[in-house]
Amino acid sequence: MLITLDDAVTHLRKGDIVALPSETVYGLAGLALNVEAVHKIFAIKERPATNPLIVHTSSLEKAENLCEINNLAKKAAETFWPGPLSLVLPKKDVVPDIVTAGNNTVAIRIPKHPVFLEILKKLGKPLAAPSANPSNRTSPTKAKHIKELFGKASPPTVDGGQAKVGLESTVLDLSGSKPTILRPGMITREELANCLGVDVELLSTTKSSKPCMQEKQLSAPSPGMHQVHYAPKTPMKLYNSIREFRDAQNFGAGDAIIVSEEKIALELRGIGFPKCTCLSVDGCPYTIAQNLYATLIELDAHKTDRMHLIFSGENKGASRAILDRLQRAAKA
Ligand code: TXA
Ligand code: MG
Repeated sequence: MLITLDDAVTHLRKGDIVALPSETVYGLAGLALNVEAVHKIFAIKERPATNPLIVHTSSLEKAENLCEINNLAKKAAETFWPGPLSLVLPKKDVVPDIVTAGNNTVAIRIPKHPVFLEILKKLGKPLAAPSANPSNRTSPTKAKHIKELFGKASPPTVDGGQAKVGLESTVLDLSGSKPTILRPGMITREELANCLGVDVELLSTTKSSKPCMQEKQLSAPSPGMHQVHYAPKTPMKLYNSIREFRDAQNFGAGDAIIVSEEKIALELRGIGFPKCTCLSVDGCPYTIAQNLYATLIELDAHKTDRMHLIFSGENKGASRAILDRLQRAAKA
């Protein structure tokens, strides 16, 4: 059911859950300091209690009521907030343990979407909001995706148009001695290092190495970064070139092809694959990110046997986050 911004404020005040647009992906929002409301978020998503939520607020002053803002956090916030960056910082007692999965840190973000910001301002209270998808599935970037993902169990939804960024926020841990990216996003390692004036580490979730975290961390350093995540229902194969796709000789009649740029589509046509979906004209990572999840969710609805995705971007800059999501989606 689609609702207005004011309806959303009413639902939220009562402790109910609504789906809200953000500039990254749609979020499943509830009052962050209300334990009952947060319980409802975990239940709707079927999310494990060990995976903490991001708390959204409307100003740096309000964020200071929830966590300890150190100098690096202030720099990052002044440059990138409101925007697609979540900062993991030592939490204050007011934040319930259920939100942080028992960790002594909390992830905080000021979203840029005007509807989300307006709702936060009208409420005057912080909102916990994970992406509005059932656990491990693809995140929604349009209001109509909520219905496709949750069916009859869909929460009331505010339609704020297509998400401009299209991938979840960069999660940057500033609670330890070294700034560490726990989840890559469209705000890149290079941009963060430039802003902070220090090196920024990248958590490798494939190795067992732990970043510098506060001692009392209870759950994994980046509990949300499972190997399988962001997955469409349709099995997905990932290739970095046409050659790799051809060598696999794996294409069936009911399959679909998705490519990161038109150049690849043209080449495919030349070798007998006339139909494919292009994520961008010229390989621009920002356009690819914006279109990716909508393409996966919409192809899922079309009874496709398998998806073959050819992504030619490298594992650096803004393409890093795209590759990270694609690799997890392809592991399902
Ligand atoms: O763009 C976004 O971040 C969206 C929009 C709605 O804001 N939200 C989102 O939330 O993607 P979610 O719950 O799907 O992902 C939150 C990520 C997870 O990987 C989680 O493990 C991590 O942030 N996280 C949250 N709190 C943390 C903490 N205290 N320490 C380490 N990681 C944390
Ligand atoms: Mg998520």
